[in-house]
Amino acid sequence: MRTATLFVCITAIVHETAAFTHPSLLRHSLLHKAASFNAHSEESSSDPSAFHGISSHELRHMKEAKVRKSESHQTSKSFVSGDDLQSLRREVLSLNQERQKLLTANRDPHRVAELEQAIWQAQQVDAEYVYYISQLRAEKAEEEGDLKRAQQHRKQAKRARSELPQFNLDGLWVGRYGNHGFEMINITYAGDTMIAYKVTDNDNVPSGEVSFTVDLSPNPKTIHGETPLLEPIELNHDAAEQWGLKYLPRFTGRGQVARKGFRNAQWVEGQLILVNKYFSFAWLPIGHQVFFGRPSAELTLKMLRESRSKRFADESSRAFLTRCWEETAYIEDDMDVTDGIFKSHDQSFYYDQAGCFE
Ligand SMILES: *[C@@H]1O[C@H](CO)[C@@H](O)[C@H](O)[C@H]1NC(C)=O
Repeated sequence: MRTATLFVCITAIVHETAAFTHPSLLRHSLLHKAASFNAHSEESSSDPSAFHGISSHELRHMKEAKVRKSESHQTSKSFVSGDDLQSLRREVLSLNQERQKLLTANRDPHRVAELEQAIWQAQQVDAEYVYYISQLRAEKAEEEGDLKRAQQHRKQAKRARSELPQFNLDGLWVGRYGNHGFEMINITYAGDTMIAYKVTDNDNVPSGEVSFTVDLSPNPKTIHGETPLLEPIELNHDAAEQWGLKYLPRFTGRGQVARKGFRNAQWVEGQLILVNKYFSFAWLPIGHQVFFGRPSAELTLKMLRESRSKRFADESSRAFLTRCWEETAYIEDDMDVTDGIFKSHDQSFYYDQAGCFE
């Protein structure tokens, strides 16, 4: 069995605790962008054709979503996302370091004020920051008995949360659990905790049990421009080209493992990694990682049926599932992002194919 380049790359970095290095290249352009996000309403990066690796279905969906948003005057234009967000946070981090240095040395109060203004401006376009701070403000307003203001902050928090991809993964996903074959999970949220329930059975963890949970509560250290606890994974140049993004955000979680028959069930350290519109979850101590993709309605029905009449024993359904699986870019175990179908010029062709996941 060959192993996917991206998979290897992610697995290697999952364990890495290397010191953070910040790229200062984006220094002014991003803050400028932050400022224009505040002032402007035209968002060039929302042009769907600017993305790579997106299916025609998703493109349609994005266009529809865009129309809906402009109709309702609901601007997702108030927040930056993806790689821009990661760069913005690095920028905030470096500005804050400079600020700390000046404060410690008791120097240049004018520059300190400038830095604080820049940090503030950048934070306003970080949905996670706005989510975090609006909740705090709502609580404070409630304590002070100002329910109207509290409600405004809650509304703002809700809007910011709805823009965060990690909070928009609800529903059914399919992933390959090693030699257990394909399994389906159902993602729900309890507060800021993401919970993945098993929908299909295997010998170890049966359906209805929790496969993994992820803590998505905003991290105050990231928020305040201190060193983030969990650095996003940085893809190498080739992989970044293929996937259309350089940074893969990740979050701390816990995965459930058990012996056959759900005996000795226990929780181990885990990690959720967002990959564009998809994600993977890693059970760290056992080095087990699963990529998840959205199943088609047809596949969903089939898997639900099969989970009821016990696992897919017969070869024809196995073949069907394999075929479906090959149509998600992320899960193929011989996936090689530097070769074959994952070359960018092939990718649009690849994603334009009608398939099980459309
Ligand atoms: C998935 O979870 C949602 C929310 O709890 C629930 O309404 C739905 O029935 C679940 N779907 C399956 C197939 O378990």
